[in-house]
Amino acid sequence: ANHLPSNITWHQGLTRGERNQLRHQRGCTVWFTGLSASGKSTIATALEQHLLQQGLATYRLDGDNVRFGLNKDLGFSEQDRNENIRRIAEVAKLFADSSTIALTSFISPYRVDRAIARELHADTKNVDEPLPFIEVFVDIPVEEAEKRDPKGLYKKARAGEIKEFTGISAPYEEPEHPEIHIRSDKVSVEEAVVQITNYLQDKGLLK
Ligand code: PPS
Repeated sequence: ANHLPSNITWHQGLTRGERNQLRHQRGCTVWFTGLSASGKSTIATALEQHLLQQGLATYRLDGDNVRFGLNKDLGFSEQDRNENIRRIAEVAKLFADSSTIALTSFISPYRVDRAIARELHADTKNVDEPLPFIEVFVDIPVEEAEKRDPKGLYKKARAGEIKEFTGISAPYEEPEHPEIHIRSDKVSVEEAVVQITNYLQDKGLLK
């Protein structure tokens, strides 16, 4: 403590607005939802790369860093998916609160879970401003997703080898009012990225 530069003062805690100002960036959560093989992770990854190239703090949460770590105790029952999404929403919110653009790419098949994630970001208890939450529906007909089947999971689900598979033997509840709707069987990954960045730009989130 003897060597602290004199321009450092201790705050009780910085506000979100102060953090944003110091990092020259506003945080938000871009929440991708869609069937397995819809392209959500591919689009989210391309978006992450693009935003990082622009010098924006960005981080993507997906199955590889969440289902193998924080959520390795969870499977694919309705209850486990609820808890999976609840924890992811809390983590995304922490990233967004740190003035980072948080990207999440999970099926998140239940409307109620996505609504909970949204409400969590809208909560202004003890903070000066809510966190923007942008729901991106990566929309593909289930037949198309099944044709793609990059991991052979639809085939296994049809054969009954995987139970409760989204779109086959478990529900996918489509978003009713997503901020962004991408027909991933009709537009390229690059076009999808442009669609999303235009939206973020309009909302003043890319600075
Ligand atoms: S969820 O519904 O949001 O909790 O699912 P998520 O965490 O995104 O995990 C989906 C990936 O897990 C693989 N997988 C399954 N998906 C759906 N239903 C069942 N039963 C299932 N079992 C395993 C699958 O590879 C999903 O990956 P993506 O990247 O979406 O294809």
